[in-house]
Amino acid sequence: MTPANDTGPDSDPQALYGYVASKLGERGIAFLHVVEGATGGPRDIAPFDWKALKAAFGGVYIANNGYDRDTAAAAVTEGTADAVAFGRLFIANPDLVTRFRLNAPLNEPNRDTFYGGGAEGYTDYPALAEAAE
Ligand SMILES: Cc1cc2nc3c(=O)[nH]c(=O)nc-3n(C[C@H](O)[C@H](O)[C@H](O)COP(=O)(O)O)c2cc1C
Repeated sequence: MTPANDTGPDSDPQALYGYVASKLGERGIAFLHVVEGATGGPRDIAPFDWKALKAAFGGVYIANNGYDRDTAAAAVTEGTADAVAFGRLFIANPDLVTRFRLNAPLNEPNRDTFYGGGAEGYTDYPALAEAAE
């Protein structure tokens, strides 16, 4: 668990976020979506038991941050997540699900165009059929 936006560091993030997750779980919200580690960065920036967080919540747990096809499949198979969300890979691959299904090669996300505000880097990554042309 790492500081994001203005949350700041905490002396015992496992207890704090475990408590928050349990309270959210009691309210029966649809799912808990968790950026595991530093957003878009290392997953192991601080020791944290994500599985315990999932258990504390008790509902549908969606994991995110640095997953790929294999690690996402393993997370779901092993039960550490109910689903996995993708950010950068989806930006670069409009047909990400199809590519995963086929185990096809992926377009590499271009960090330089992430926040460009235009079409470049958002709507011009080729889908598989286009790439094959
Ligand atoms: C261009 C870009 C914009 C993002 N905007 C947001 C945002 O507004 N709010 C947010 O919580 N996360 C935002 N993220 C973080 C992603 O939701 C996600 O947590 C992060 O990319 C890690 O997942 P990934 O490894 O699958 O990319 C953004 C990421 C990228 C690349």
